[in-house]
Amino acid sequence: MSSIDVPLKNGGFGSNMRKDAWWLEPLLIFLGYMVFVAYANYAIINYNCGGRPCYEVPGTSYLSPMFSPLLTTNAPAWWPSFAPFFGTTLILWVPLGFRFTCYYYRGAYYKGFWADPPSCAVGEPRKTYWGERKWPLLFQNVHRYFLYLGIVFILILAYDAWRGLWFDGPNGPGTQFGIGLGSIILILNPILLGLYTFGCHSLRHLIGGRKDVLSDSPLRKSCYDCVSGLNQRHMLWAWISMYYVGFVDLYIRLCAKGVWTDWRIL
Ligand code: FES
Repeated sequence: MSSIDVPLKNGGFGSNMRKDAWWLEPLLIFLGYMVFVAYANYAIINYNCGGRPCYEVPGTSYLSPMFSPLLTTNAPAWWPSFAPFFGTTLILWVPLGFRFTCYYYRGAYYKGFWADPPSCAVGEPRKTYWGERKWPLLFQNVHRYFLYLGIVFILILAYDAWRGLWFDGPNGPGTQFGIGLGSIILILNPILLGLYTFGCHSLRHLIGGRKDVLSDSPLRKSCYDCVSGLNQRHMLWAWISMYYVGFVDLYIRLCAKGVWTDWRIL
């Protein structure tokens, strides 16, 4: 397929006729990501709380979503000795890759981190529009496959939420049903992640993108409308679900350290 480079209006980098504070949104995006990345790095590296794992709460089956699924905390034999290994090393690439290639995140971090473009209708650092047709940005096309993995992770986190309803009892660890504040916090996590994931642009295309007349297929049309409804708030769910994962980890970490006590409701 032939392609053309679309010439941009040459006003110079940063030039614009906008009257609003156009730089504010990219700045907030930059700060919002940096705060989360700083916390996530701290949590991933510091997973040992005085000889006990920080991602579990004694007496409960709570597991931090940052460490789920918990495959191993020890480096496997094939892991190169020079590379650091953390409890999340084998799984982190899935949520990271999913968010990194998300259409919303791309639009946000291209502005917030690369200033390319700095914002809508603001002069770009180049003379032509390249799109995402060259490496390394061609990598972004794998988003659909990360979506499949992201859905698997939601199922795993839903299972973790179920496990969060089981506490240590007379018959052994994790055998007594109960509800703690942490149980409710864990249940909300896959719900919020689902509101983000099931509003994915790729999912919307998968469901309705190949049909010219959707009304011919009522079930497909209903699914498409659902995804489209979530898609309209995709940015909102992206931020809420991302920070909520950090909050769940913080809650479990502070309970594990004994700073907070989990409120046992039932
Ligand atoms: S476009 Fe954002 S999750 Fe797919």
